Amino acid sequence: MSGDNLLNVAGIAKEGSDTIFSWFARYQNAKKEGKDAVNGTVGALLEDDGSLAVNKVVDAAIRESPPIEFSAYAPLAGLPDFLDLCKTLAFGDARNTLEDLGFNFSSTASPGGSGALFLAANNFLERGQTALLRDRYWGPYKGFLQNNGQDYVTWPLIPKNKDSSHPHFAREEFESQLEMLCSKQNKVMVWLNDPAHNPTGLSMTPNGRSVCLNSFVNSAIKNEDVGHTLLIDSAYSLYADEPHAWADTILEEIENGLMWPENLLICVAVSLSKSHTIYGLRTGGLVCLHPDKEVTDRLNTVMSVTGRQTWSATPRVGQYSISKMHSTPEGGDAWGVERDRLKELLDTRRKSLIEECNNRGVSLNPTMDGFFAWIESDDSVKIAERCAEHDVYLVPLSGGVRIGLCALAANDMPKVAEALKIAMG
Ligand SMILES: Cc1ncc(COP(=O)(O)O)c(C=O)c1O
Repeated sequence: MSGDNLLNVAGIAKEGSDTIFSWFARYQNAKKEGKDAVNGTVGALLEDDGSLAVNKVVDAAIRESPPIEFSAYAPLAGLPDFLDLCKTLAFGDARNTLEDLGFNFSSTASPGGSGALFLAANNFLERGQTALLRDRYWGPYKGFLQNNGQDYVTWPLIPKNKDSSHPHFAREEFESQLEMLCSKQNKVMVWLNDPAHNPTGLSMTPNGRSVCLNSFVNSAIKNEDVGHTLLIDSAYSLYADEPHAWADTILEEIENGLMWPENLLICVAVSLSKSHTIYGLRTGGLVCLHPDKEVTDRLNTVMSVTGRQTWSATPRVGQYSISKMHSTPEGGDAWGVERDRLKELLDTRRKSLIEECNNRGVSLNPTMDGFFAWIESDDSVKIAERCAEHDVYLVPLSGGVRIGLCALAANDMPKVAEALKIAMG
């Protein structure tokens, strides 16, 4: 192929993955042709009129920033106030209690949650090792891992063996994959996008989280020579009913006597793209929790050096303006009012889609929070094609079709459910 003599092996292996954009383009073409088409393709939150939803309080905070905050570099690790804010965004009210209990946090700014995921892949597993993901996952995970010479295996999103005490956590499969990896590697890393999973909207239950955490900790205790990193990807969690669900579970388990072995680390990949509607300002961070301050100090150094060697510093203006906005209770509350308005858009759309699907006997995956809903299918392209015949544009992915509640309007849902019924029928 052209360029093969210029590209290295890793470069040659990279192929375009434009499924989402190509289905969006098909929606746009249908609109141009005058069809009454609906758009469930885009992965950003749109108002009911199809325009990008912007948190107005965040927008005002950015615009009030002095010119120097737009122009200057940020410190390599990130602005101190922002690093502090990241800990609170990641752990909510549990943060202070965890600190009082003697736990420590590292915090490093990154260009969005994507940057945080890259930092984790780059520094926790060795090249040649394998990460553990759920079997429905955000597509770019694969690339972040591959770019660090890593592979992945999965465990099911929903248990086959339905156990009513944790219906959204496949414990047996998780434990057996973890055991398999521990028998082969000196480090294991799990990436878990919860609550408000992309691409399904699933949120685990509190009991499911606690069972998952205990399985992971027990594995760390049993395999003391294997480093154990659990990374919670919180990209959509500030729109979930329990935004700090993992922090609450972690704190509760610690208060109930959970043992924290030295070889256990819990990280949160923070993204402000959705929560603060600043997708393009590339603002996020990686926050890690460990009882030993020497460990978190070391992580602060390692992560900021990695950032320096990869993208230099993270953009400054988002860090400055958002930490200033959250520094007063009024600023934080005003952001919260706007966030609630945007969450309401998602809640209304989700409720309506579930109702319309139920009325027609269409069986959606469990979907509770965040930007998406999902329908399982071994032939997702066929389903998406059939929906498109009825002017409903969705995204066929591996294992199912992603329904962008974030992009659809509430009153599109009868049409979406009807198209799904025909397509699945
Ligand atoms: C599951 C998930 N994690 C992380 C991200 C990171 O987004 P960003 O890099 O824009 O913060 C996204 C964005 O779509 C996502 O869907």
